[in-house]
Amino acid sequence: MSGRGEPGGYDPRTQRTGAVMPDRKQTIESLEIEHRVFPPPPEFAAQATADADLLRRAAEDPEAYWAEEAARLDWMSPWEQLVDRSNHPFYKWFVGGTLNASVNCLDRHLAERADKVAFHWEGEPGDTQTITYADLHERVCRLANGLRSLGVGRGDRVAIYLGMVPELPAAMLACARIGAPHTVVFGGFSPDSLRDRIQDCECTAVITADEGWRNGKTVPLKANTDEALTECPSVTSTVVVRRTGGDVGWVEGRDHWYDELVAAQPAECEPEAMDAEDMLYILYTSGTTGKPKGIVHTTGGYLTGAASTHRYVFDIKDDDVYWCAADCGWVTGHTYIVYGPLANGCTGVLYEGAPGFPAEDRWWEIVERYGVSILYMAPTAIRTFMKWGPEHPAAHDMSSLRLLGSVGEPINPEAWMWYHEHIGGGRCPIVDTWWQTETGCIMISPLPGVTPTKPGSATFAMPGISADIVDEAGNSVGLGAGGYLVLTEPWPSMLRTLYGDDERFVETYWSQYEGKYLAGDGARRDDDGYYWFLGRIDDVMNVSGHRLSTIEIESALVDHEAVAEAAVVGRSDETTGQAIAAFVTLKGDVTGDEELIGTLRKHVATRIGPIARPKSIVLTDDLPKTRSGKIMRRLLRDISEHRQLGDVTTLANAEVVADIADMAESARAAGDED
Ligand code: WTA
Repeated sequence: MSGRGEPGGYDPRTQRTGAVMPDRKQTIESLEIEHRVFPPPPEFAAQATADADLLRRAAEDPEAYWAEEAARLDWMSPWEQLVDRSNHPFYKWFVGGTLNASVNCLDRHLAERADKVAFHWEGEPGDTQTITYADLHERVCRLANGLRSLGVGRGDRVAIYLGMVPELPAAMLACARIGAPHTVVFGGFSPDSLRDRIQDCECTAVITADEGWRNGKTVPLKANTDEALTECPSVTSTVVVRRTGGDVGWVEGRDHWYDELVAAQPAECEPEAMDAEDMLYILYTSGTTGKPKGIVHTTGGYLTGAASTHRYVFDIKDDDVYWCAADCGWVTGHTYIVYGPLANGCTGVLYEGAPGFPAEDRWWEIVERYGVSILYMAPTAIRTFMKWGPEHPAAHDMSSLRLLGSVGEPINPEAWMWYHEHIGGGRCPIVDTWWQTETGCIMISPLPGVTPTKPGSATFAMPGISADIVDEAGNSVGLGAGGYLVLTEPWPSMLRTLYGDDERFVETYWSQYEGKYLAGDGARRDDDGYYWFLGRIDDVMNVSGHRLSTIEIESALVDHEAVAEAAVVGRSDETTGQAIAAFVTLKGDVTGDEELIGTLRKHVATRIGPIARPKSIVLTDDLPKTRSGKIMRRLLRDISEHRQLGDVTTLANAEVVADIADMAESARAAGDED
């Protein structure tokens, strides 16, 4: 494993890391010469929710700022202390206050917005639902009662394994209503990944569906759940949404149809009064080891951060139609599809399926149909749309759009400009938002109407957030220099710990620099103080905006009987940001061929999920290693990206490098598989 200061890690002096896409960096450098700046359009600025005064007030007194933001929520009882700093890094926010997240997202809107649309939902096959706040409230209450009837109560963990159906946000809010922390597992994950997550936090119930829709095909969610549950003794009940009507296996006494369960329940449900610091959810994310980290978020601080940032960054107005085109399986869906938007009483769009189904203009058809005014998506999607061509958005009336957002990975300036021109019609501000599962909400982003933007830069820290870039020794590097991104003050929506592993929490985020949170990203500031993100400094890859650890994929490969050893690196990819490149040595008696390569790629997809399928696998007799036996991933990255090979003098087996490079070349010439 390489980390900071090791091969493949980020070097703040040269501002280079193996994880960085070289073409993007060149572009950033050339842009600095070009100095393209987009000032806020005056008409937008005139109506914007945020203004410069907000930034000034937050900078003068961040705690007063957060107290004001938290006061926009409905509290059942007020907090006694804003932030308790006595046990660093285990901060507590809004100490003593009580509230319920589902009440803040639903009940409090009913007096004035009962008939306002909460979600325009569109299924992949084309079926639709219009769900008002009153409808969603009723659905959530019925399911919350249903869960209680199955014995699920305060503090019990519930796994949610669904596609993007309306029952997904409803399930999250139903859990929140009864104080049962949810853990949403992305519907594209495998039975093994589901099992690991359920086991780690010992869920007692799972909410799933018969099947999901993706690209015109069905995803066997219930069958996957059944497989996972053969090794999950903590689970005593499942609730199964009927989505496709496909055949499923059934365990009497354990399995319950969702529609039957909720039909028998009352439409009102008494919410639990939760302590501000009670757990709202656990969301697993990849770290630098094979074991995913269970990020723990609490009720008061998280909801404050989600609602406040959603309001300012997306300039939310009562008549907006807002579409965050993420999946609720990731943090973006938690914060910016469910908790933030609903806390703000906003109308959202939910789309179940793939962007190219049935045709490459599906998204733009949706924008036109619902009159979407705010669109938030990942650069990998933007690059896919670039590849498909501007004629698809051009065929639709997208004049309703007024603001665009980007999240999940650095956005390269070409994609930024394409987004600006072909989606935003040249008139919409773009907010490039940097944050993490751990931070709970956006930390670094332009405020639309306030911040002049530069294509490719996430600009500045949000109001109430203190960021810095430091060198190896922890000293601020100042303007015009690069280093490690840190957050220097606690913030309300910060992760509280890793589920069941306080030690790893402290070690991963708080042990490098006294009192500072280490994000794990390389970044630099230009002379104007704008932040430019450069990619991860650890062994975490970013494929299509999803975090995957190299170690996780290596373990899955080594798990196959033919494999002796494996090394995985992220190489830059035009569409997905990074692509997974694997180098594998086989056991002595195995001969490798194309068929085996196919089998290994499939094996990883089965073990982790299709998103983890390596784009290329090179079979090699040996891997480049240091004398101490450490695999030199930096060299493999150089090979994958056709770079001049770095220093090989520390290698124990320098001769393998040329062979691997040759093999990688012929693999590439044969064309990457998909
Ligand atoms: C990367 C997603 C550059 C970064 C919300 C971070 C970004 C990781 C940006 C978190 C951005 C996210 N610019 N890089 N605007 N947004 N990242 O936990 O490396 O899935 O550490 O949260 O994505 O990914 P996560």
